[in-house]
Amino acid sequence: MKVKNRVEEAVFAVADLGTHFLPATKASPKEMLAVVDKPLIQYAVEEAYAAGIREMIFVTGRNKRAIEDHFDTAYELEAELSAAGNDALIALVRSIKPDDMDCVYIRQPRALGLGHAVLCAERVVRGEPFAVLLADDLMIGEPPIMRQMIELFGEHGCSILAVQEVPKDQTRRYGIVKGKALSADLVNVEGLIEKPHPNVAPSNLAIAGRYVLTPAVFDLIREQPRGTGGEIQLTDGISALLATEQVLAYRYHGKRYDCGSKLGLMQASVVLGEVHPELGGEFAAWLRDRQKILEARDYGDRGLV
Ligand code: G1P
Repeated sequence: MKVKNRVEEAVFAVADLGTHFLPATKASPKEMLAVVDKPLIQYAVEEAYAAGIREMIFVTGRNKRAIEDHFDTAYELEAELSAAGNDALIALVRSIKPDDMDCVYIRQPRALGLGHAVLCAERVVRGEPFAVLLADDLMIGEPPIMRQMIELFGEHGCSILAVQEVPKDQTRRYGIVKGKALSADLVNVEGLIEKPHPNVAPSNLAIAGRYVLTPAVFDLIREQPRGTGGEIQLTDGISALLATEQVLAYRYHGKRYDCGSKLGLMQASVVLGEVHPELGGEFAAWLRDRQKILEARDYGDRGLV
């Protein structure tokens, strides 16, 4: 079957329970945690949209209704804003889902892993190449990282994984790539292993949460037994794809914040706070003043500045 050379669908795996962020995620999805004023899932959707993708497929689970509501029309809110004559906020609220963007929601009945979540999207992807974005990884780049990847897909026509080097002692947090460098940015993938111990990790090149995949991966995911953590791993499905197709790892140009961790979420909030169009100047000045106070140890005995 001839596979299209365009990527029109993005899959967002958002069924995870988000236990790292309890109690914040007890009743609301972790993907709705905000960095400054936007939820994580919106950053990921905007990145996919900027890459030309118009069909957003969310693989959701229990307690994730807020994500659907976020990308739906908010009649009451719009009516209130309209009564108050606040056109700017109406435009802001409406811009979350542009008219030419479609959202599809699929329930993942059980949290069986990222591979299983992606497999849940198979029927909607309809045998075409597709993108996967993990909203936990907030990626900032110009052009946006997914756009960089889709351009590469246009050139090479094979699956592309975003990768970055990580400290060797962190390999247990990532899918790790083994391969040969083709250029400064591209690695021909020869093997993949999910969350290896540093002693057995073949490299320190880690998969970041962005993928462009060919549809052949679906059958291969289906064949995978449960892997690391007892879950059906996307990494294992892609690894099986290596037997028949080329897979490239791409050292993306940009920055990634691991917003699946509290530290990463706080770091992203500071960095995006500093460049925020309305608050950036004031916030950056406050950070500088605070730093001076900390350096002068001029904060009394309360430890709070
Ligand atoms: C997932 C993938 C892993 C990848 C990581 C990137 O792991 O399984 O291969 O390196 O995302 O964030 P998770 O963070 O969901 O455990």
